[in-house]
Amino acid sequence: MLRRGLVVDGGNSQIDVIRCLRVRSPRIAPAYASGEYAGHVIRFVRKAEILPSPNIWYHPEAYEQENHAQDVDGDLWRILRTQCDWAGRDVVDVGCGDGFHLPLFAETARSVVGVEPHPPLVRRARGRTNGIVGIGVKQGPAQRLPLPSGSADLVHARTAYFFGPGCEPGLREADRVLRQGGTLAIVDLDVRHSPYGDWMRADLPDYDPAEVDRFFAEQGFRCVRVETRWGFENLAAAESALRIEFSPKVAAGAVREVLRRNGGLPAGPLTIPVGYRVLLREKPSGLVRLPRAVHFASAGPDSSISPRIP
Ligand SMILES: C[S@@+](CC[C@H](N)C(=O)[O-])C[C@H]1O[C@@H](n2cnc3c(N)ncnc32)[C@H](O)[C@@H]1O
Repeated sequence: MLRRGLVVDGGNSQIDVIRCLRVRSPRIAPAYASGEYAGHVIRFVRKAEILPSPNIWYHPEAYEQENHAQDVDGDLWRILRTQCDWAGRDVVDVGCGDGFHLPLFAETARSVVGVEPHPPLVRRARGRTNGIVGIGVKQGPAQRLPLPSGSADLVHARTAYFFGPGCEPGLREADRVLRQGGTLAIVDLDVRHSPYGDWMRADLPDYDPAEVDRFFAEQGFRCVRVETRWGFENLAAAESALRIEFSPKVAAGAVREVLRRNGGLPAGPLTIPVGYRVLLREKPSGLVRLPRAVHFASAGPDSSISPRIP
């Protein structure tokens, strides 16, 4: 969580690579600039494409409990179903982690593929879904989905990779994999929503929500904001989730705030209001064909009128 919102993949231009190498491997940078070490650099770039997620990478059991606590009223699922129902359709979950959401999609989907770059999580996701008909798990990053073009109706990503500027390679890949008319749905925490968003911003003072909103609007997404509730059995369970999401100081403040909001009773069940943004974009379903008569009547020989993509 601490790295949320940072630019994930600056596009891997030569300049980006050299800049990264200067910081991490100063001896290699000049060699790369002169064309040596190509293999080393490709490996470096591929590694840099994957954004470590300290919560699920290093605390998978606590993250599992957190996933159970999230969205206890099913508000996110309700919005997703309303916006892009996947019943009878083919779903891809990018950055699926340990596959927590795959069985839920599979209840009504025709097929579900989870894509995850971190090998230990790929193994966990396969273990979770082993034997469930219609679910597959593949290893790969959002920037190079290991899937054929035009093979999915819904590409979904939840709190994974698509954090703002820098995720353009993944947006292009999602479009490649989607069928015409298919939907890309990106679910992420709403940094503008209190109190959870305040805790996120305390750890990410440079994060600019307006810039991120602008980026996705420019990329053609509409945004549905959803207030959900996270529900925990007791304070210890809430604390275990907050401690894998935030720095120790921010987590300690968050625990105090949760206790205060729940009447100061650590033994009973507690809830936290948590806001999400659901970003949605449909892949255009084709070129708009102007009627032949309109084409020729309105367009002179030098006209630049051409079919438009809606
Ligand atoms: C916070 S976890 C969310 C996991 C899952 N979507 C969930 O909600 O349970 C973020 C996931 O994104 C994955 N990830 C990191 N870099 C990625 C990339 N370049 N492409 C796709 N996924 C990536 C991480 O390995 C991690 O599993």
